[in-house]
Amino acid sequence: MTPLFSIVVATDLNLGIGKDGGLPWRLKNDIRFFKDLTLSNNPIDVLNHYSISDIQTLSIQQKQIPENTENTVIMGRKTWESIPDKFRPLPGRRNIILSRHPHQSLSSNIIFCSTFNEAIETAPTDASPYLYIIGGEAIYHMAMQHPSCAYIFQTVINTKADCDAFFPAIPEWFKEVGCSPVLTENQFDFRFKVLANQGI
Ligand SMILES: NC(=O)c1ccc[n+]([C@@H]2O[C@H](COP(=O)([O-])OP(=O)(O)OC[C@H]3O[C@@H](n4cnc5c(N)ncnc54)[C@H](OP(=O)(O)O)[C@@H]3O)[C@@H](O)[C@H]2O)c1
Repeated sequence: MTPLFSIVVATDLNLGIGKDGGLPWRLKNDIRFFKDLTLSNNPIDVLNHYSISDIQTLSIQQKQIPENTENTVIMGRKTWESIPDKFRPLPGRRNIILSRHPHQSLSSNIIFCSTFNEAIETAPTDASPYLYIIGGEAIYHMAMQHPSCAYIFQTVINTKADCDAFFPAIPEWFKEVGCSPVLTENQFDFRFKVLANQGI
């Protein structure tokens, strides 16, 4: 059975996500949230830590997780290349990179896949408890339409930035189930939102 997965994304008010192969903003608190969530074996704790309200309505599956197991992050080849060498692979997580071109998978936590389905099926749920799709635009498009996409963790930045990469329009089957208070950093106001797929 295809494992459930979630999307993690930061967008501006126009669903902009990127510019010139990088992020249009620098928000340490958003990077910290991304890291805490994608490293955690207990996402509910992380959401509570960030004061994301109404979280009791979430049905994020709590899993019995053996010690020393890692979550998996799936990203497009361009997003992978946008991560500075010294920070990749993202530590403590299995990194799966999508590319149509052949690449040698370099180690057990740097794995190249050539289709989206291969990528999600390469991430078995027992060995790899939580599965996150972390961009960019091309990969979000495929993830969002997939029936196993359970949650979207969206940081919404209250600005209209100059972007050349965009998150797709969010389908109506995703409903907001949690939201943090507004945070401010580098003159940006932003909040963390959780949307759940009502069909799962
Ligand atoms: N704000 C955020 O939360 C966030 C998160 C992540 C990324 N970003 C931004 O998004 C931008 C990058 O997005 P992007 O859309 O340009 O690139 P991307 O999605 O990261 O990567 C695109 C690449 O993925 C591979 N790919 C795409 N579809 C595929 C498929 N169906 N099967 C196999 N491989 C496939 C191809 O690699 P090959 O060319 O090697 O075949 C393609 O060139 C950057 O600006 C980045 O900073 C923002």
